[in-house]
Amino acid sequence: MIVPVILSGGAGTRLWPVSRSAYPKPFMRMGDGQSLLYKTLDRALRLADGGTVLTVTGRDYYFLTRDEYANHPDADLDKLPFLLEPVGRNTAPAVVLAALHALEHCGADATLLILPADHLIRDLDAFVADAQRAAALAEDGWLVTFGMPPSSPETGFGYIRMGAEIAGREGREVAAFVEKPDRETAERYLAAGDHVWNSGMFCFRADALIAAAEKTCPDVLAAARACHASESGQSSPVEFAREAFLAQPDISIDYAIMERAKRVAVVPARFDWSDIGSWKAISDMDAETDSAGNRVQGQAIIVESENCYIQSDSRMVAAVGVKNLVIVDTGDAVLVADRERSQQVKIVVDRLRKDN
Ligand code: GDD
Ligand code: MG
Repeated sequence: MIVPVILSGGAGTRLWPVSRSAYPKPFMRMGDGQSLLYKTLDRALRLADGGTVLTVTGRDYYFLTRDEYANHPDADLDKLPFLLEPVGRNTAPAVVLAALHALEHCGADATLLILPADHLIRDLDAFVADAQRAAALAEDGWLVTFGMPPSSPETGFGYIRMGAEIAGREGREVAAFVEKPDRETAERYLAAGDHVWNSGMFCFRADALIAAAEKTCPDVLAAARACHASESGQSSPVEFAREAFLAQPDISIDYAIMERAKRVAVVPARFDWSDIGSWKAISDMDAETDSAGNRVQGQAIIVESENCYIQSDSRMVAAVGVKNLVIVDTGDAVLVADRERSQQVKIVVDRLRKDN
């Protein structure tokens, strides 16, 4: 039984000023008007046996998230339980809590499909087919990752070295999992050609994940069990005792479990995928360009400018004689950045936080 789990946390600071702590990345709307979160729910519902989808998110986002889900014609809110975090403790606690919850409420055979709420996937049929391949492996006890063919030596991703084919299944063993290597290592992996990016989506039986956590991160599991005990008897939304929640280590599932576990498999993905991590990533994929490579969302007048991305919610933006800029106006803030340096937008947010 596939139970998708939507993970939605983190402010996505490189997408300031649109993504902020009060209105983070999953709520950002793409060119078609749908938010990344809505698109994630849409993917999840295609795979959810019985229509149940778990969501783990911050308590501040509960109503915003429900409102977003309510827009989906196939969503039955009674089947979309929420686990609400008082603060983010990263993905290992979030996933382990989801597994403990699923074992109690969804049955012993629950196979979790972990879906981050801030990815963009266009080819849904290919995604569903790959997710079903992953679920078949997961049912045999594998912890499954989805591997993306790398196109550059990104250092913000995990890398998977693919090992032997798994007999009778469409997937391969993971020979090595390296979370966020340095540039030199990433370049080596890219040249070797036998590595794929870890997409951050996973598929495993809830009981297999708990068994792996017992070996690789018993501290995370023990803290999650204590936290889970504090949710007993609650129906959605589930809130945890704050102290028990805060006692959990702040660590990602990649470091805590995937890097260390045995029986990890990879399904090489046949769908397109983008972790919408920066304005460059958005400008590369999400709007029509004019003949000079400019892309506009909202209102803008462009005169003799090239390769610019302009997004404006309400005000008119004009660009004259400029190249390779990202300009984003949200009414109360304006970003002007070199397109190739849009990763550094997070420095702006760090500075804003320090000053406030
Ligand atoms: N509920 C909840 N609580 N969700 C969280 C939390 C948390 O405390 N922390 C992160 N998330 C969600 C984020 O919103 C995001 O959707 C997803 O979990 C992954 O977290 P990121 O913080 O974006 O991870 P990353 O980008 O550094 O790395 C992961 O993703 C890469 C691909 O995008 C890793 O899995 C890498 O190996 C992978 O390549
Ligand atoms: Mg990410």
